[in-house]
Amino acid sequence: MAILNTTRRWGAIAQLFHWLIVLGIVAQFTLATLFDDLPAGPKKLTLLARHKSIGITILVLVALRLTWRGMNATPELPGTLKPYERTLAKVTHVLLYVLLFLVPLSGWLMSSARGFPVSWFGMFQLPDLVPKNKALYDALVTTHGILAWALGLVATLHLLAALKHHFVLKDDVLRRMLPFTTNRQG
Ligand code: HEM
Ligand code: HEM
Repeated sequence: MAILNTTRRWGAIAQLFHWLIVLGIVAQFTLATLFDDLPAGPKKLTLLARHKSIGITILVLVALRLTWRGMNATPELPGTLKPYERTLAKVTHVLLYVLLFLVPLSGWLMSSARGFPVSWFGMFQLPDLVPKNKALYDALVTTHGILAWALGLVATLHLLAALKHHFVLKDDVLRRMLPFTTNRQG
C-alpha cells in the first residue's frame, strides 16, 4: 500500500491517523460512560487519568494528521456528487477537525481550572493552561460535555454518510480510506 496520498486514494499514514483517532474517540466515550457512573474514589481517578492521557494523545494525533494532510495530495470527491453534497462533506470534515481540537483542549482547560495537573500516562506532566478557578471549572465541565456530544453526533452523521457512499452510491469513498482494498472505478 502506498505511504503517500494520491488524488484517488488515502495513503497508509493518513489511514493510520484516521483509524487511530476513531479508536481513541470510541475509548473516550467508553471511559466517560464508565467513570460517570462511579462514586468519587481511586477507581474513578484511574479511569479519568486514562481519559485525559488518551484525550491528549488525540490532540497530538490531530495536529500531526493535519500537518501530514498539508504535505501531500488529497483524494478528490467523486464527480457524480451534487454541489450541495460536496459542500456538506467539506463542512462536516471541517467541523470534525475543529471539534477534534476543541474537545481535548476544553478538557485540558477544565483540569487546569480544577487545579488537577494533566499527566500523560504517568510519564510526564503537562503545564496548566489557566490558574485554579472554580467558576471557570464549572463552565468548562458543561462546555466539554456539550462539545464531546456534538463530536459524537457529527461523527455519527459522518459514519452514516460513509456507509451511504459504499452501499447506496457504490462509489470508492469508503474503500479508499480502508487498508487492503483497491478502487473499484479504475
Ligand atoms: C477527543 C477527546 C475527548 C473526548 C471525546 C471526551 C469526551 C468526554 C465525555 C463524553 C465526557 C462525559 C461528559 C458528560 O458527562 O456529559 C467527558 C468528561 C470528562 N473529560 Fe473528556 N473527552 C476528551 C478529552 C479530554 C481531555 C484531554 C481531558 C483532560 C485533560 C478530559 C477530561 C475530562 C474530565 C475531567 C471529565 C469529567 C467531567 C466531570 O466532572 O463530569 N477529556 N469527556
Ligand atoms: C470518531 C469518529 C470519526 C472521526 C472523528 C472522523 C474524522 C474524519 C475526518 C476529519 C475526515 C476528513 C479527511 C480529510 O479530508 O482530511 C474523515 C474522512 C473519512 N472518514 Fe472518518 N471519522 C470518524 C469515523 C469514521 C467511520 C466510522 C468511518 C467509516 C465507517 C469513516 C469513514 C471515513 C471516510 C471514508 C473518509 C474519507 C472521505 C473522503 O475520501 O473524502 N470515518 N474522517
